Amino acid sequence: FAAEVAATPQMGFNNWNSTHCRAEFDEKMIRGVVDKFIEPGLKDAGYQYVNIDDCWAYWRRDKDGNLKANPKRFPGGIKAIADYVHSKGLKFGIYTSAGSFTCEPKKENRGFPGGLGHEKQDAALFASYGIDYLKYDNCNNEKKPAQPRYTAMGDALRATGRPIFYSVCEWGENQPWLWAGKREVGGNSWRTTGDITDTYASMVEIFKKNVVLDQYAGPGHWNDPDMLEVGNGGMTDTEYRSHFSLWAIMAAPLLIGTDLRTIKPEPLKILLNKDVIAIDQDPLGVQGKRIRDAGGVHVIVKPLQGGDRALAIFNETDAAKEATVSAAELGLDKAGKYAVRDLWQHDQREGDGSVRVTLAPHATALYRISAR
Ligand code: GLA
Repeated sequence: FAAEVAATPQMGFNNWNSTHCRAEFDEKMIRGVVDKFIEPGLKDAGYQYVNIDDCWAYWRRDKDGNLKANPKRFPGGIKAIADYVHSKGLKFGIYTSAGSFTCEPKKENRGFPGGLGHEKQDAALFASYGIDYLKYDNCNNEKKPAQPRYTAMGDALRATGRPIFYSVCEWGENQPWLWAGKREVGGNSWRTTGDITDTYASMVEIFKKNVVLDQYAGPGHWNDPDMLEVGNGGMTDTEYRSHFSLWAIMAAPLLIGTDLRTIKPEPLKILLNKDVIAIDQDPLGVQGKRIRDAGGVHVIVKPLQGGDRALAIFNETDAAKEATVSAAELGLDKAGKYAVRDLWQHDQREGDGSVRVTLAPHATALYRISAR
């Protein structure tokens, strides 16, 4: 069943990018975020998972060796949160690490217990909570080889009999694109890079590492260039539109990383752009391919079901740029007539399918091109 839960890239929310390990990450926050899925239409737009990240656990296992929730953050326990998420028709995800401890806290001389050597017990506990998603990190791995560690948890998840999306959080160090999606491991996505931060430079760096891995992505198994920073305040709206466009054309997971209780209207509009989401979620399940990047202008083309194409043109530079993409470069029929829809400007032109655009610094133009 592993592939079924990942026919298209996962969409949802994870608290990490907005809270890290700070005290504001708690039961109240997660309940508040769940409520925000319904009202501004995020659930209708396809966002489905509500995932909690590191720091949910108590620093010791209980007397039976089970993980338990930090009672300050989750006084009602994890099962209650999972039930609340499910009561809204959403899915619930949890986090641990393929190591002796998770990644936080980095300074103190103790951490939160990880899953290494406890795979069966932890997977069974998670399944008893009703989890639908596991993010399995790579910290404190005691230098044991990656593939067997991730296989052990994959086996344990499958043994629960519950369909669980398996997010392999190996940061690209052991080329997880070569093994994490194999049947034995069963990863549904794998991180391709280190952690994103809420800066334009970080977003661009991660984009460049992930965009060249297009051949490894497909239905059931996706490249994961980390979670979205849209809304966290460190980039301009133009840069956030680029971030969202690039993640969509790379068929990346769309995991919102901002506190939805306080998000501003413009970033919320970005996250709710259904035309852009449709590029990410296209059922053909092909990651866009970069066809050129001369002068800091990146051109990425993604074939879509039914013969449409998505085209992203990203101006990485600090100067305005003119860009042209010909119909031939897009592989379009010479004699054909095409509609070119701009998915941010919401306008449509008819023609031979070619595109000419002036791009502001750091901007991305995103199109859907369809035969008439
Ligand atoms: C690692 C992961 C992050 C996050 C933190 C939590 O750095 O890559 O996504 O889960 O751990 O500590």
